[in-house]
Amino acid sequence: MRLLAFCFVVLLSACHSLPKNNHVPNAINDRTLTRPDPHSMANFEDVVITHLSLELKTDFDDKELKGQVIIQYKKLKPETEYMVLDTRDLKIRRVSAADSNQSLSWKLASSQPPLGSALQIKLPENSAPIKIDYQSRPQATGLQWLTPLQTATGKHPFLFSQSQAIHARSWIPLQDTPAVRFTYQAQIEVPKGLRAVMSAKNSPELNPEGVYSFDMPQPIPSYLMAIAVGDLAYKKISEHVAIFAEQPFLEPAAYEFAKTEDMIEATEELYGDYQWGDYDLLVLPPSFPFGGMENPRLSFITPTVIAGDRSLDSLIAHELAHSWSGNLVTNARWCDLWLNEGFTSYIEARITEKVHGQERMIMEAALNLQGLQKEMADLPEAEQRLSTCEVELDSEDVFSGVAYDKGRFFLEWMEKQVGRAEFDAFLNQYFADFAFQSITSSQFLTYLQDNLISKYPQKLPLETVKEWIYGPGLPDVLYVPVTDRFEVINDRISAWQTGRLRLDEIKTEDWTTQEWLHFLRALPESLDQKTMQALDRAFHFSESQNSEIAHDWLLLSIQNRYQPAYDRLIRYLNSIGRMKLIVPLYEAMMKTDDLQQLGKRIYAKARPGYHPLAQQAVDPVVNYSESGH
Ligand code: BES
Ligand code: ZN
Repeated sequence: MRLLAFCFVVLLSACHSLPKNNHVPNAINDRTLTRPDPHSMANFEDVVITHLSLELKTDFDDKELKGQVIIQYKKLKPETEYMVLDTRDLKIRRVSAADSNQSLSWKLASSQPPLGSALQIKLPENSAPIKIDYQSRPQATGLQWLTPLQTATGKHPFLFSQSQAIHARSWIPLQDTPAVRFTYQAQIEVPKGLRAVMSAKNSPELNPEGVYSFDMPQPIPSYLMAIAVGDLAYKKISEHVAIFAEQPFLEPAAYEFAKTEDMIEATEELYGDYQWGDYDLLVLPPSFPFGGMENPRLSFITPTVIAGDRSLDSLIAHELAHSWSGNLVTNARWCDLWLNEGFTSYIEARITEKVHGQERMIMEAALNLQGLQKEMADLPEAEQRLSTCEVELDSEDVFSGVAYDKGRFFLEWMEKQVGRAEFDAFLNQYFADFAFQSITSSQFLTYLQDNLISKYPQKLPLETVKEWIYGPGLPDVLYVPVTDRFEVINDRISAWQTGRLRLDEIKTEDWTTQEWLHFLRALPESLDQKTMQALDRAFHFSESQNSEIAHDWLLLSIQNRYQPAYDRLIRYLNSIGRMKLIVPLYEAMMKTDDLQQLGKRIYAKARPGYHPLAQQAVDPVVNYSESGH
């Protein structure tokens, strides 16, 4: 998950021409780490946006969103004269006072990768809302424009956004920081016959004119701004849940995600009411770069979890859990990401346990712990901490399994120390106390001290808690998930390796996806051709329709140069764009001398179908350069 370059911001020289004596916001001159949010150039300590009204038209020919945004705001410091917004690759046409239509002076600074260009606007005397006429560019990092051929039905184009972490600024000029929340309304015009959906109230009706209105009455941070447009069918699957998907995915998704309503109930029982009205799922085309994205009221979901047996629906539990951890209580800066993802991974496990039983939850925990340990072994100490804010990071690894799984195991440790009932009550109160707020790791620690550590100083020694949050590695107090089901598999593998058991004698009939994944990961890394072939014959891995099992098998096939699987490898990489599933395969090919050319060839063909973020992730892996291909 090397997505975000963490870098210092230098002076934005293009702003020098502003009149002297005007208050130039701090944000412009400060260096990144001294800023309240290193990833935003907005002066949100002076003035905060409170409401957006968007009016956008989707131009599929030019791959541009065109229109305007009206921004309401509140001055926190009355003397504030300027508002600085984050933008990236936006074309700004005009800035005016929304009430009088009078032009306002503005300045777009030169680009400071990866932050983009600060847009500085002189605020009107009367603090009237400001209106910005603008358009996005085809290269917007937060949007993917798909041609009809890249969709399931092949007839209509498709557009979707992915704003987290700092990509909302590539399609809306705003304060792009999770520290600021605002409500929004939108009117979106799309080609007739297509449907627009957003992270807001969505209507089941298709509008014949292609004009859609949205309202998001709860205040959200910018990374939860989301839009998708396409030939989307709709199906309500339970009282509070509906699915939007291209027609061929609709029924399979309705089956796969049938447990969603139970998941909502389970989470409400634990942590209090779901605060967002309905909960819908949008199934995206396979190029969606993530597994899921917790856009409020409408989680965005990869079709690669539609396995046919609900075995990968913990992803839904995860995105749903964000309705509490993340969307309700939000990390104030991206270096506090574990407050979103660690809490969410913990809640995901609690939901999975309630809905699918303890066995499945523990198997997933064991797989995640193995993954985390492997990943940590290659990470510098600074990146093994939950809170990465206190250290000067110059690396790109803000996002890793650390925030997710170390965070999750930390919460599980606290739960086991104080007991479930007590810990559930604590978290429930935490969500109530910080609802619709953004917090930092140290705010969380203070709250934890006041509300839990003070009651259980022996069971939760402050030193150990600090070691979890600020220390590298995994504290040895960690509870290691153990399951008989995986022990049995380990035994079978060693019996087979020592010749005591044939592959066809291993009883696999009732294995779940998690057991297959453990089996594949427990095999020796180096296997000869005969053995690879025997495994493939016995278990048909090369043709597995389960995207996770196929991924692990293809990785093994690359490592062992198992040619019969290459055909599937090529199809796989050309049909899926989820970074977690494709990046490791390219990395493995580039590490294998005689497969580097194959990797480059596959990529050159597959790249145009990938999302801009996936391209950014794979380009350096295969040393891709536009001119070289
Ligand atoms: N919010 C994340 C996705 C994300 C994280 C996007 C950081 C951009 C920056 C989402 O909730 C997530 O964690 N998705 C995971 C789900 C998995 C851990 C169950 C994914 O996409 O694989
Ligand atoms: Zn998440």
